[in-house]
Parts: sequence; structure tokens; C-alpha cells
Amino acid sequence: MTVFDAKSIAIVGASREGNKVGHKILKNLISSYSGSIYPINPNASEILGIACYPNVKDIPNSVDMAVIAVPSKIVPSVLEDCGVKNVKTAVIISSGFKETGIEGAKLEKQCINIAKKYNMQIVGPNCFGVIDTDSGINTTFASQSPLKGNIGFMSQSGALCAAILDWASTEKVGFSKFISLGNKADLSENDFLQILYDDPNTKVILIYIEGLKDGQGFIKLTRRITKEKPVVVLKAGRTESGARAVASHTGTLAGSDNAYDAIFKQSGIIRVDSSEELFDYAMAFSYQPLPKGNRVAIITNAGGPGIIATDACEKKGLRLASFKRKTIDSLKENLPSAANIYNPVDVLGDATHERFASTLESLMNDSNVDSVLVLLTPQAMTDPIAVANTIAEISSKYKKPVLCSFMGGSAVVPGIDVLKENNIPNYSYPERAASSLMSMVIQKRITEQEYPNPKIFDVDKETVKKIFSSARSENRVNLGLEALDVLKAYGIPISKSIIVSNPKDAAKAADEIGYPVALKVVSPDILHKSDIGAVITNVKRDNIIKSYNQIINKTLKFMPKARILGVLVQEMVPDGVEIILGSTKDPQIGHLVMFGLGGIYVEILKDVSFGLAPLNEKIAESMISNIKAYSLLKGVRGEKPYDIDSISDSLLRVSQLVTDFPEIVEIDINPLKVFEKGKRCKAIDVRMILEVKK
Ligand code: ACO
Repeated sequence: MTVFDAKSIAIVGASREGNKVGHKILKNLISSYSGSIYPINPNASEILGIACYPNVKDIPNSVDMAVIAVPSKIVPSVLEDCGVKNVKTAVIISSGFKETGIEGAKLEKQCINIAKKYNMQIVGPNCFGVIDTDSGINTTFASQSPLKGNIGFMSQSGALCAAILDWASTEKVGFSKFISLGNKADLSENDFLQILYDDPNTKVILIYIEGLKDGQGFIKLTRRITKEKPVVVLKAGRTESGARAVASHTGTLAGSDNAYDAIFKQSGIIRVDSSEELFDYAMAFSYQPLPKGNRVAIITNAGGPGIIATDACEKKGLRLASFKRKTIDSLKENLPSAANIYNPVDVLGDATHERFASTLESLMNDSNVDSVLVLLTPQAMTDPIAVANTIAEISSKYKKPVLCSFMGGSAVVPGIDVLKENNIPNYSYPERAASSLMSMVIQKRITEQEYPNPKIFDVDKETVKKIFSSARSENRVNLGLEALDVLKAYGIPISKSIIVSNPKDAAKAADEIGYPVALKVVSPDILHKSDIGAVITNVKRDNIIKSYNQIINKTLKFMPKARILGVLVQEMVPDGVEIILGSTKDPQIGHLVMFGLGGIYVEILKDVSFGLAPLNEKIAESMISNIKAYSLLKGVRGEKPYDIDSISDSLLRVSQLVTDFPEIVEIDINPLKVFEKGKRCKAIDVRMILEVKK
């Protein structure tokens, strides 16, 4: 049974006082719900004409759902009573739980345990309630009830719910279901996503979230949903606040917002930055069919807005359609000679609704046009109502989206009202219309998007297991040079390296590797070795002893307390471009894989991209092409292209490594040297950290 199937609802805390939450909920429910309603209040016998019970247990009939609006301290005992009464769902409106601190969190845990005991589901606590315009369930204390519509909305912020309901009633925007998630103690966005996906009344899903409860589950679910229904998300907290204890570049760069971006991209979610955008897009999806492609035709009765719209469309990724001959002939025939019959079509300032009509009809009939944007500015000869009626009538005959921007104030409002009544989205400015149209194009692409399974490489898992258990047996979570062997076991090419502890062995190791070599101090206490002169490159046979001693002396001088585990003798890798490739684990979401331009500027330029493991080839490719320095990798000014395939291969192998070994919390391959096409890249240095076992 879902929340919205309830045939009988009890309101615990139904107050006698009109300004109290419990009273408002009861009033809302009475006004829209035809199932059985039971107010619960030990101090009243009847409220709003309905018989009241002192306790849910006193209700003589079965109760499917309880809405709880009593002070938090008594919520557990109310829940216990609901459990005994075999209530299936409790919507806990009361605040005073996890959001208030430790004591509140304990109270919330208590509620979760009671719900588990009785196999009862909880919405909230600390929520605004839920609304289903189909069944009439409205457990909110909102002063406005929404109209019926096809937008399914859920929000982690209750206050935002209240504001949106108010706005929607002014704008005449309708909803199918409206859900306030609250603290998500039990039911979370994934549960409601499934409900909205299954709901035939929901065409578009809007979500406001601050964090996900189960990132991997969300991806799995939304990949399926977004192929059929657009999911538009406003995720709060793009800016990273609060210091995080991280030891690597990857960790520093991978703020949790990058994780969300990666999740959304990989699951076909359309992310927006503001509430305005959220509802702009919702209007488009709710009212209009998706366009076949990105070719837009613009009709305008003013030159300037036409140019603004053209710029906005092109900036967003739309293309101005080239009309078919037949269309041009028809426009020529129907429009005055001063009109511009090419895209954007300018029907001129004295345009009547007939002129708009013949133009729109021609463009809707042109198979080179995927969508139409109609701009209107108030002009003496133009009647916005007549134009709006014309648009409504013509657009209803075609399966092609029409969006409008009637610009201005009171002069265009009556026309906008007609558009609204006829489900034609209108935007006060062409830029907003262009963004909304592009979101529809993106959604169309999402419906065609495939999510191939990740490529599985033949790797040496056993070696990695041994390396990890040996580190664990020494109580180490920080891997040393053995991290390079982990990469090798997963098929990522590494530079030849040997650790030595005296100059003589350094010379022996260099003989084995081949000159010239690089020497680096090995110390868990030094993060940036080159800064203190503890890295010497291009060392030849005649100065190997001297270089070894120099490194040790510099380390002792600048970091006398650092533990020195030895000196690394490493193959000198030829010149190439340095990139960084890594992974970091987000406790809620999983492993993020990062790729970017490496070297000393990595944290300044932040030219990096992220994907969520497990990656497939398509995601790896898009991660590479998404960085700004991509053109450099492809070869600029006659330079040969770099071996991008081997970067993609390494990304996929790192992804497989962290998927196979979730105990890895951080990998930082920095640098990974990339050479010209055909030569495989090589990992020069790597940091790897395992999870501390509790
Ligand atoms: N069972 C049933 N009813 C009871 C019980 C009981 N065990 N005990 C008391 N009641 C009755 C009371 O007698 C009272 O009715 P009355 O006014 O007729 O006497 C009614 O329940 C309400 O109890 P009060 O103690 O008066 O509580 P009040 O209504 O002031 O507050 C509330 C309860 C609204 C749940 C409050 O504790 C609260 O949490 N407020 C915040 C709600 C909130 O913001 N939630 C998040 C929404 S999202 C957003 O931000 C918009």
C-alpha cells in the first residue's frame, strides 16, 4: 500500500482552535477527501462537525493512515498506538527531531524503531505533509490547495512547499502529487520517485533536495524513470562549506557537489540552479510535447527581442532552423514585403493575429522546424488575446512544442491568461523561454540515451588483496610504493621504481632500471617533496651517489622530524602531458572518479571532471572531453594528439578497482603522464588510502 491509497485517515492532534496546525490539516482533508476521516483529540468530542476520538485505538473501524500533529515528545507514544491499531502509514508533521540535535535524533530513532516493529511507514517527521489531487488526500496545513495537474513535486524543505503552493495557486499551476519529505526518517526521495514514476497522472517530476539518502539507488531508479518522464532537480548547497579532512588533490577537489553533478549527469536528471528555472522547465514539460531536435523557429513582431531570442537560443545550444522552400514561399505570400521571412521571422510591429496565424501554421508544417518560439511585444495593432487564441488553436493540431514570450506588463496579461488556460507556457523574457526549450531538447536526448554496462577488464585481484591485507596487518591504511603495484595489478602502466636505503643500492637499482633516473625521498610525512628539494630528476651514473646524499641532507635540513623510509629510484619517463586521475569515496554516494589536468596548477585551475563509479566507456569519454584543456590533448597548433584512449582505459580500470575494493577511500595518481597517440600513459606517483576498519 502506498501513502496515496489510504481509504481512512486519522488526524492525531486535530485541534479545536482554528489557527493550530492540526485544525488546518483536518479542514484541508475535509474539503477534498472522500474517505473516512477521524479527528483524534482527548479533549474534544467533535471538531468541525466530525466525531472525535481520544485515541486512534478507540476508532471502531480500520485506519490506513495517521497524520500526527502533536508535540514531538508524545509522538512515540502516538506511534505506538498507531502500530497497535495496525495503521500502515504515519505522516509526522511535528518538528523537534533530528533537525534540532542529539535529543531530537534519539526521539527520531525511537520512532523509526516503533515503525519497524509494526511494519509501518513514516513520512517525515518535520514535514509539511502530502497531497494527492487525484484521491483528494491533503495532509498539509497549507492555506491553498493546489489544482489538478501533471506535475509531481517533492521537497526536502517544508517551507518551500508552502511557498510553492501559494505561488502555484496564483499562477494556476496544477500538481498530481505534492510531497514534503521532511527528515526522511523512513520514506525518502527514492520511495516517492517510484510512486511518481508509477503514477499515470504524473508527467514531470520536480525535486528539491539538500542531500540523497541512497545515491546508488537513486541512480538506478532515475536512469529508468528519466527515459520516460523528465526529472528536474534543484539541489541546494552548490557551494562547499565546512573543511573536510582530505589528504590528496582528488579529495580536495571532489566536493560533494561534484558528486551530485556526476550522479545527475549519469542518470539523466536535469539540474537547475533556481526555483524560477525549476518551474520554467516544469511548465514546458507539463504542457508541451518534446521536440524532435534542436532546430527552433522564432516568430516576433519586434526586431530587438528577435535578436535577443536568437542569441539566447544559440547560446543554450539550439539551432535556428533553415526553412524549406515551401515555407519561404508561403511566408513571402502571406507577409508584407518588409517582413523578414527568414529565421527569426519578423511579422512586423503592425502584425495582426492573422499574420501570426499564417506564419505559425507554415512553420508548424515545416519538417525542418522542431519547435517554435513566439515573441510578442505590445503594439497598437496587435491584440494579445487574439494572438494567444490563434497560437492555442494552431498548436493544438500539431505534436510540436510552442513556447511563448509575451513581453511587457498589463497590456499583455490578458493574452498570457489565454495562453495559460490553453497550456501554452509563457515566459516573461525570451532568455527563459530559450533555456526551457533547450531543457526539452536535452530531455529528448535523455530518452534516447543508453547506459551501457561497464567494461570488465581481466585483472589480478589476488595481488591487490594480498597488498591490502599486508598493509592491514601492519596497521597501515596509507599505502606506500605498493600502491603502484596495485595499479599494475589492474593493468595501469606504471614507471619502474625501486626503494633503496643507501647510496650503493641506489646505484644498483639505477643500473637495473637504466639511466637516467629520478630520485625521490620516501616519507609519509612529506606531501610535496619537490618543494624541499627532495626530488632530483635526470640523474646519470656519475652523480647517483651525490644526488642520493643531497636528497637525504635536504630532507634532514628542511623537515628534520620527517620519517625517512628510503629513496625511490625511478625510471625517467619521457616528456608528456601530466594529468591527474583519482578517486574519492563519498560515504552517502559511493566512489567518485576524477580526471583533470595535473601538475602543480591542479588545485588552482581546477580543470577537472567527475564520474561516479562504476564508469562505462561513454562516461569516461565525456569526462575527458569535458575539461577545458581537452583541445590540448587532441593536439593544438600542429602538435600531435595525445593518447586519449589510454586515459579512458585508465579511468575505467580505476573505476573497476574501487568498485572491486570499496575499502579504498582515496586514490591520487598524480601525475599520470600521457604521451602521443599510440604510446600508453604511465603512472609516475600514486597515493592510496584505505578505510579505517571500525
Ligand atoms: N493525542 C491527540 N491529540 C492530543 C494529544 C494526544 N495524545 N495530546 C494533546 N492533543 C491535542 C491537544 O489538546 C491540542 O488540541 P486543542 O488545541 O484542541 O487543545 C492538539 O492536540 C495540539 O496539541 P498542542 O499541544 O496544542 O500542540 P500545537 O498544535 O501547539 O503544536 C505541533 C503541535 C504543530 C505538531 C508542533 O509541536 C510542531 O511541531 N510545530 C511545527 C510544525 C512544523 O513546522 N513542521 C514542519 C513543517 S515544514 C515547514 O517548515 C513549514
